[in-house]
Amino acid sequence: MAESLPNRYFSKSGPGPRPSVEALLAWAAHHLAPHLPNPEREARLLLAETLGCSKARLFREPREDVEPASIVRFEALVLRRGRGEPLAYLTGHREFWSLDFRVNRHTLVPRPETEALVSATLRIIPEQDQAGRLLDLGTGCGTLAITLARERPRLEIWATEQSPEALTVARENARALGTPSIEFRAGDWFEPLPQGIVFDWIVSNPPYLPDGDPALMGDGVSFEPRASLVSGPTGLEALCRIIEGAPRRLRPGGWLIIEHAPSQSGALVSLLGSSGWQAVDGYRDPAGERQGTIACWPGP
Ligand SMILES: C[S@@+](CC[C@H](N)C(=O)[O-])C[C@H]1O[C@@H](n2cnc3c(N)ncnc32)[C@H](O)[C@@H]1O
Repeated sequence: MAESLPNRYFSKSGPGPRPSVEALLAWAAHHLAPHLPNPEREARLLLAETLGCSKARLFREPREDVEPASIVRFEALVLRRGRGEPLAYLTGHREFWSLDFRVNRHTLVPRPETEALVSATLRIIPEQDQAGRLLDLGTGCGTLAITLARERPRLEIWATEQSPEALTVARENARALGTPSIEFRAGDWFEPLPQGIVFDWIVSNPPYLPDGDPALMGDGVSFEPRASLVSGPTGLEALCRIIEGAPRRLRPGGWLIIEHAPSQSGALVSLLGSSGWQAVDGYRDPAGERQGTIACWPGP
């Protein structure tokens, strides 16, 4: 492992010369290289975050000295990242749909592939000023509810989430991102909704990994809440519960738009088809990878 920063720059005889931006980035990239594919990029992001400046400024001012307190904070972040903690938990935010979402260890880190669910939903709700009611199940930090509220400002949007801590983050994000009217409810899928309320659209990115899935060994994944990733022994448990519960909460002609693993497509198509759903179809990301399924509930 590379020498620690305080050891290098604060010797027993007192502080030595202050390290420059350049020197700190070199140390961090060296420390992160064995663990990560893009050590330079991550080092730069963490230093910009520590100093509260842009990455461009680090490029412009590589020789600038850095304050001791910032060095200590930066080192702590780099060491945590080297131990596998997601970058988004260290910086406290993650971009999704070009919006800046606050995240913490109680929330899943929003994934770029979930943007395909937003695109699929916007294709089903093409008019910007469309009115109607939409439900986001398992909202996490509010990703889908908030993005869709911004894209379709006339919708009445509800969101449920079983983790109260995640819901606190979602509410903060909704305020910060200008969508304070979203109705957030804590509890199990449909359970916290008022009796009788029905929706025109239900969207969800539920947990869909089976216990022990190799994806759980991915970068930073072990730090994320297990309940946001793992559904049970088959991975289909949450998807099945949502598909089973949605007909009671959709108007006839309403749509379900749901993310799942590409390998689960066949199971989803046959489950939806055999339970009376219509227009069952896959949606894909811009690279053509199947990311989820849409289906229309024709009514009882
Ligand atoms: C894959 S994460 C999706 C988070 C966010 N919607 C996104 O796309 O970034 C799944 C979310 O569902 C929540 N969840 C899991 N089981 C739930 C349940 N029974 N009822 C409500 N929410 C649940 C988890 O806490 C987690 O926030």
